[in-house]
Amino acid sequence: MKRYLIIGIAIAVGFSIIACGEETSKTQAAKDAAAADSLKKYDPNKGEGKFKDIVLDEKLNGEMAEGGNKTFEAKCSACHKLTDEKLVGPGWKGVTGRHQPSWIMNFITNTDEMINKDPAAQAQLEICLVRMPSQSLSDNDARALLEFMRKNDGVK
Ligand code: HEC
Repeated sequence: MKRYLIIGIAIAVGFSIIACGEETSKTQAAKDAAAADSLKKYDPNKGEGKFKDIVLDEKLNGEMAEGGNKTFEAKCSACHKLTDEKLVGPGWKGVTGRHQPSWIMNFITNTDEMINKDPAAQAQLEICLVRMPSQSLSDNDARALLEFMRKNDGVK
């Protein structure tokens, strides 16, 4: 009698282990599908992040650009030049022609995720061999930096 009980318990435990294994593989499959889905939805023009369509004035906002210049000096100039020459990261000359405004703002506020997903960012990473660290910028910082990049690219 006791023996049957032990066998019964063994079977029950066995089943629960199998069931558990199935459960994890199901969650893993769901995770893989979600990751593949988010890559498929990725828009390399706009990038990934909270900025969708940034509408810019044709004219430069000088005050904003000045604020961007300050943030550049404090947080970016160690790795970026304003010419087309690479320092640690790519030079900024022409960056507003290479990328859409929302791409730039998403890249600088959501750097890690963008480097994981964006083909252009990954190509730069291969050249620079350094992963740009997250800069913890506010939305206003990011917008001002974009204005400063526009100024650097000749917008008046
Ligand atoms: C520690 C060095 C470092 C710092 C500091 C840094 N960056 Fe970068 N940045 C990089 C590297 C390296 C890349 C290219 C590789 C990559 O994608 O990670 C890059 C890429 C970029 C690009 C894309 C350029 C292109 O032509 O594709 C932009 C825009 C940018 N950084 C903006 C900023 C801003 C804005 C700051 C300051 C708030 C900043 N970076 C601070 C190293 C840095």
